[in-house]
Amino acid sequence: MFEVHQNPQPRTEAERAAILADPGFGLHFSDHMALATWTADLGWHDREVGAYRPFQLDPASAVLHYAQEIFEGLKAYRHANDSIWLFRPDKNAERFARSAARLALPVLPTEDFLSSIETLVTTDQAWVPGGGESNLYIRPFMFANEVFLGVRPARTVTYCCIASPAAAYFPNGVQPVNIWLSMNYVRAAGPGGMGAAKTGGNYAASLVAQQEAYEHGCEQVLFLDGAERKWVEELGGMNVYLVAGDELITPALEGTILEGVTRDSVLTLGAERGLVIQERRIAIDEVLDGIESGAITEIFACGTAAVINPIGSIKTAEKTYTINGGQSGPHTDGLRSTLLDIQYGRAEDTHGWMHKVC
Ligand code: COI
Repeated sequence: MFEVHQNPQPRTEAERAAILADPGFGLHFSDHMALATWTADLGWHDREVGAYRPFQLDPASAVLHYAQEIFEGLKAYRHANDSIWLFRPDKNAERFARSAARLALPVLPTEDFLSSIETLVTTDQAWVPGGGESNLYIRPFMFANEVFLGVRPARTVTYCCIASPAAAYFPNGVQPVNIWLSMNYVRAAGPGGMGAAKTGGNYAASLVAQQEAYEHGCEQVLFLDGAERKWVEELGGMNVYLVAGDELITPALEGTILEGVTRDSVLTLGAERGLVIQERRIAIDEVLDGIESGAITEIFACGTAAVINPIGSIKTAEKTYTINGGQSGPHTDGLRSTLLDIQYGRAEDTHGWMHKVC
């Protein structure tokens, strides 16, 4: 049970309306947050939803030194009848538990994960935008909060969940994006590394390559595997799919890439469109040759924040490989609208993916 302590100074209706009219992505936060503490002697305790506020962190808090941290991303959607829904939150709870295990953090029980989000979203339901493709992006996270500089798993851990009204992830909306192929950097080590965990370190590792991408006029980075620099892994913050003929192809889960909830949903929706699904290793040469020959007709990125976003080109230091004339394709567009129709309650939820909050 997350006990609610109302924020004594919530934003005014006018302030909230101004934010919801143009939320951007990750810029504004609702009036409350969920919190819980874990200690080695007491386990999980002090569960509450209270006012959104800064943390007070001791300079020696372990997370600031050794990055023992994990997070999740999911969204609350307002349906036409004003009810509010989550998309497959059980999958996020499962991945949060797997990430915790990999980072030697305590597992937050699924019922606590779900209850923190449901209580926060119910308390801040006025912050869930309506209309268009906006939503309330939910960011649960957990970090080592012990004041101790020795290198071992922390014995004091903070769990927190915040919420941020959001529009499209990319500033230009849903337009084909250009992708920089990183040859200098990898986002995660090979098997045994943290690639499958949703931990800040993987995103920190991606930033220098992201910087390179911006310098080359690209919005995202495509990373290859750490061992051979041959196999396609994922983008800086999204999974990747190719369409070739009637095949829908994505890198297999081998412990080095994120097990995306959207990735998993696209496997199901793609099969329902009649596409032949392939989860396998994909050599980068196969991708670049396939774009040049026209065998690969569509490439798209997918993730909670990005939903499904067409990729217009892949750029290397030598050459730009343009996909489908730089335009989105029918499967990318079809999968995107099918997924969004389910999430926004415009299509029947035949898979039981939607979870009603209030
Ligand atoms: C998400 O899609 O939820 C993520 O965590 C990725 C990040 C690029 C926002």
